[in-house]
Amino acid sequence: MERLVARLCSTNPGKLRELRAALPEWEIELLGADGYPPETGETYYENARTKAEFGRTHEPELLVIGEDSGLEVAGLGGRPGVHSARFGGDDPVGRLLAELHDVTDRRARYICELVTLDPDGVEHRGTGTLEGQIVDEPRGSEGFGYDPIFVPEGEDGTVAELGNEWKRRNSHRARAAAALRAAVDL
Ligand code: IMP
Repeated sequence: MERLVARLCSTNPGKLRELRAALPEWEIELLGADGYPPETGETYYENARTKAEFGRTHEPELLVIGEDSGLEVAGLGGRPGVHSARFGGDDPVGRLLAELHDVTDRRARYICELVTLDPDGVEHRGTGTLEGQIVDEPRGSEGFGYDPIFVPEGEDGTVAELGNEWKRRNSHRARAAAALRAAVDL
């Protein structure tokens, strides 16, 4: 089968690693461009679509993938949500734990939205979520971002403890990738 060559419109190597693992039959590289547009959308979809459109201006002959993701914490009214990437500056984990200091409802959800555009401009989408809760202390060393303080439903360990192999099969990104693969293959 011919491999589908794609460019991920992101600078995050963690996202690249996870998408490659989730879509092994695709050949994915980072776009490698500067000057990404700011994430000003009100939804993950809008931001993912904007990144894909930006990618298309650089690689019009390839499938481009826009990705946007975030963490929604129930006790914070769904924050940081679509603003996750800009939350907490250099220490997003520290800020989240500080904000949750007196908060008892620590249920949380990761969300990932993937949008592809092909050379004809045809769009496909895939969405994935992962439910869990935020713990008091960071634990584990794999993954990235909030993974050391996020324990998925039905698990005892944080995502950073469960590790990259667990993430490859179960993460919001893996689930979004499976939905996207099904949509693109139609
Ligand atoms: P963006 O998709 O580049 O806007 O960034 C989303 C932000 O959400 C990241 O910077 C992380 O803070 C958080 N996030 C999204 N997915 C994950 C994940 O798989 N693990 C940990 N944090 C994540």
